[in-house]
Amino acid sequence: MSKMEVKTSLLDNMIGVGDMVLLEPLSEETFIENLHKRFEHNEIYTYIGSVVISMNPYKSLPIFTADKVEEYRNRNFYELSPHIYALADEAYRSLRDQDKDQCILITGESGAGKTEASKLVMSYVAAVCGKGQEVNKVKEQLLQSNPVLEAFGNAKTVRNDNSSRFGKYMDIEFDFKGDPLGGVISNYLLEKSRVVKQPRGERNFHIFYQLLSGASEDTLKKLKLDRDFSKYNYLSLDSASVNGLDDAANFRTVRNAMQIVGFMEDEVQSVLELVAAVLKLGNIEFKPESRVNGFDESRVKDKNDLKEMCELLGIEQSVLERAFSFRTVEAKMEKVSTTLNVAQAYYARDALAKNIYSRMFSWLVTRINESIKAQTKSRKKVMGVLDIYGFEIFEDNSFEQFIINYCNEKLQQIFIELTLREEQEEYVREGIEWTNIEYFNNAIICDLIENNQNGILAMLDEECLRPGTVTDETFLDKLNTVCAEHQHFESRLSKNSKFLTDHSLPHNCFRIQHYAGKVLYRVEGFVDKNNDLLYRDLSQAMYKANHSLMKLLFPEGNPAKVNLKRPPTAGFQFRASVGTLMKNLLTKNPNYIRCIKPNDKKAAQVFTDSLVCHQVRYLGLMENVRVRRAGYAFRQPYEPCLERYKMLCKQTWPHWKGPAREGVEVLLKDLEVPEDEFSYGRSKIFIRNPRTLFFLEEKRRQCLEDLATLIQKIYRGWKCRTHFLLLKKSQVVVAAWFRRYAQQRKYQKIKSSSIVVQSFIRGWKARKILRELKYQKRCKEAVTTIAAYWHGTQVRREYRKFFRANAGKKIYEFTIQRIMQKYFLGLKNTMPSMSPIDKSWPARPYLFLEGTHQELRKIFHLWRCKKYRSQFTEEKKAIYEEKLEASEIFKDKKALYPSSVGQPFKGDYLEINKNPKYQKLNSVVDEKVLLADVVNKINRANGKGASRIFLLTKKNFVLADQKTGQVKASVPLPDLSSVSVSTQNDGFFALKLKEGTPSAAKGDFLLSSDRLIEIITKLHRTGAASADREPISVDISDEFLVQFKQDKVCVKFIQAGPKNGNSVTCKRKNNRLLEVSVPSP
Ligand SMILES: Nc1ncnc2c1ncn2[C@@H]1O[C@H](COP(=O)(O)OP(=O)(O)OP(=O)(O)O)[C@@H](O)[C@H]1O
Ligand SMILES: [Mg+2]
Repeated sequence: MSKMEVKTSLLDNMIGVGDMVLLEPLSEETFIENLHKRFEHNEIYTYIGSVVISMNPYKSLPIFTADKVEEYRNRNFYELSPHIYALADEAYRSLRDQDKDQCILITGESGAGKTEASKLVMSYVAAVCGKGQEVNKVKEQLLQSNPVLEAFGNAKTVRNDNSSRFGKYMDIEFDFKGDPLGGVISNYLLEKSRVVKQPRGERNFHIFYQLLSGASEDTLKKLKLDRDFSKYNYLSLDSASVNGLDDAANFRTVRNAMQIVGFMEDEVQSVLELVAAVLKLGNIEFKPESRVNGFDESRVKDKNDLKEMCELLGIEQSVLERAFSFRTVEAKMEKVSTTLNVAQAYYARDALAKNIYSRMFSWLVTRINESIKAQTKSRKKVMGVLDIYGFEIFEDNSFEQFIINYCNEKLQQIFIELTLREEQEEYVREGIEWTNIEYFNNAIICDLIENNQNGILAMLDEECLRPGTVTDETFLDKLNTVCAEHQHFESRLSKNSKFLTDHSLPHNCFRIQHYAGKVLYRVEGFVDKNNDLLYRDLSQAMYKANHSLMKLLFPEGNPAKVNLKRPPTAGFQFRASVGTLMKNLLTKNPNYIRCIKPNDKKAAQVFTDSLVCHQVRYLGLMENVRVRRAGYAFRQPYEPCLERYKMLCKQTWPHWKGPAREGVEVLLKDLEVPEDEFSYGRSKIFIRNPRTLFFLEEKRRQCLEDLATLIQKIYRGWKCRTHFLLLKKSQVVVAAWFRRYAQQRKYQKIKSSSIVVQSFIRGWKARKILRELKYQKRCKEAVTTIAAYWHGTQVRREYRKFFRANAGKKIYEFTIQRIMQKYFLGLKNTMPSMSPIDKSWPARPYLFLEGTHQELRKIFHLWRCKKYRSQFTEEKKAIYEEKLEASEIFKDKKALYPSSVGQPFKGDYLEINKNPKYQKLNSVVDEKVLLADVVNKINRANGKGASRIFLLTKKNFVLADQKTGQVKASVPLPDLSSVSVSTQNDGFFALKLKEGTPSAAKGDFLLSSDRLIEIITKLHRTGAASADREPISVDISDEFLVQFKQDKVCVKFIQAGPKNGNSVTCKRKNNRLLEVSVPSP
């Protein structure tokens, strides 16, 4: 036991008591005193069994650090001092290890710290669950959904600077390992009336202020907004800035969070546009305009805001303006249009603003859900976190408070259902002795509100749907008759006469005794808010907006889907969603956090006894402690209990043959657990004190350690033995192989050594013989050499007189002469042809003749060129000069050129002097015709060609009709400035005329001829020949400009694809471009 107490640090250094179950004596005073004492020492958490009471510290405490998370991780619930992390850890582990879906129910009044608690739970779970890139992304998205929803759904109220104005239930989904997969958020009834009006000292939703303070000038300009809050009717000004709230910084946080959650930039923009539109809408004002029928009709006063709003959303201004002045009522195929008076117009405006905002909020939730949705279809474990608006009692309570308080009633109901009633019922079921604890069951209040026949919500719906005049007063009358007898309903005019003189109860109000206190509701607005009416003309106008998000929010405005049925009322919808929520919560294992607000001033260190006492009472905390105290801290069916602890006793280990209950009895007796520490139920064992449980757990842990050691011991022995035997067997095999190998090596070595010795001896013998034989051979050779020299000397001595001293030089010269003779004779026979283009030359026979050989080759070539030239007549010379000039102009510049080389330049192809057909033409030309040929003249309009005769003389060129020979144009050559051709294989050429000359008036000529090379060369030559003008320049380029009358047209040459065939085609593309496509060569 002593060891166990060391670990139970919940009890160590306790301030007051950490678990109210241990409070002695137990009374309301000691309970609150305990809370107070702990609160003063910053111990804000206290347990009642497994329920966590959380006091709002209104200051930051150093107990939410990463170290704290580590401290509480994987620890027993009662092991450390109370903390929200202990509860989160317990829930998470039981979800991960025991596969039980969890829900965390956080209750308490407004400002008690529910939202903060829910965030602590989420951040704890995020910190302890799995890691990895994907998992971290999911976590980050889940956590970042909070700032987004808080910006749009929270507001400053008198009770809380960051009050949630909507209910939120978030399911976090995990896989079997406990890694988060995603989540689903459900939202409940946003308090949308706040959009158009806020009670004194309160603000509109944060986002409006954040946008105006935090957005850049540029964004504001785009949204047509002004930074000044006072410009907007919908923003309350008396508390526009809140202490400790930095709206601008928060705006950046929200934008960043939206990005992390996965909002696209244009989605964020659309949302901000809607926020801006709501602000603009609030500024639209109306004035009456009298009509003939005596009624007033509303008109928009200053259309500027209306205009800007319409521009923002892409709505036609007249449509919206009309919707503020008229209303169309549709019934049974009939449409009646009635006018709206000023009050109705304001009502319509506000209804529209509220609807835009609340629908946008729901859209945000849906959009976030889309992002954080789990990507897998496999089974998921779920942890639900419920943070719903706290119980509210204001000076002036309306429909919203009624709904909020109803929801809190339901949660209290669940709490009662599951902790108090279940607990007691279980004891009865198990046959355990039990003294009944009295507690207040608020089911009766829930019934007053939600009963289908005569519940307040049903009455309200009935009133809203019934024909005839319906007002809030008729609704109250109805309540007065139907609910008069209910003990929690109070109204001045109810049948129950006891309230007739109660002056605290005004006539237009009713009062409900909630579990958390009496609340006075003013009926004004109940019917309207329940109906939640939006004129169809307005929803149709919104649907027509050129704004995709807006269209999406008002699907009923689609004229194709006119639905004459009434939409369900707000109360009905809320009741249904609360019903679903309750059903959902009941399927999960609940964990409770009961938040308490220490004071009404939002101040740290202030503990108002009366306020806390009130909350302790209505939360039923005392009853909770009593039930816990009277009962047992831990219970478990016999089978799993025996299975878990059977190793603690020799009789039950390893197998117990009898019934499980007897096994547990034997076990506990053996362990000497005191008798009053446990009771035997029908199917479960009940353990009174957590300490006994810890004792069992600790024993089990030790025992498991021993068992593990035993298993390890046996396993290690077995492993070592088998390993040893294996080693031994292997050793024998290895040794046998090694010995064989060693013997083999030894034998090989001896064998090879003997061979070496043998070979050395044989070698030595052989070398000895060889030396002998070599010596004999050398002796023989020496004798022969000596004899030869001797004979040589003898002969030289005999013949010396017959040789002359310089015979060597003569022989050399003779040899050279002979070689040269042979070379020249050989060259004569192998001489190349006389053609100047023949490049062949015989190979040289001797290297020393290289210089001579090349020189001879040069001389021979010059000689044969001279011979060749001397045959030329004057005409032929001129032709070759022309060819040379053509080569200078076009070689390597135009693809057409090579094909022209082989063709002689004939000049007059038409034989113009001889052909009688051209007699007329001949008479016009008085000069010698240098060139006459048929060319194609390109039509400037369509690029098609027409045949023309082209004549060139020394002075001018003439274009004439081919058939008649009639002169179409005669241009003096000095008027020609340049000629342009392409680089490609085409015959197009442009004759460009000098600006200002008479010929230039008609524009340049674009012609085409196969003999382009000849024509241009001749043109260029005639230019060069005359001394008085400069030669005509030839531009070769694939793009050039041609002057066609007034226009300059670009002629562009392109390579045609294979499909265009082999012909050159010319097309006029536009008035600036003429495109010639040339087939690729
Ligand atoms: N654990 C805490 N540590 C420090 N301050 C806290 C803590 N819990 C709550 N607060 C303070 O109390 C304020 C109100 O808390 P919270 O918004 O959680 O209340 P709530 O119960 O959600 O109220 P409502 O029902 O109006 O939404 C917080 O803005 C914060 O300033
Ligand atoms: Mg909240």
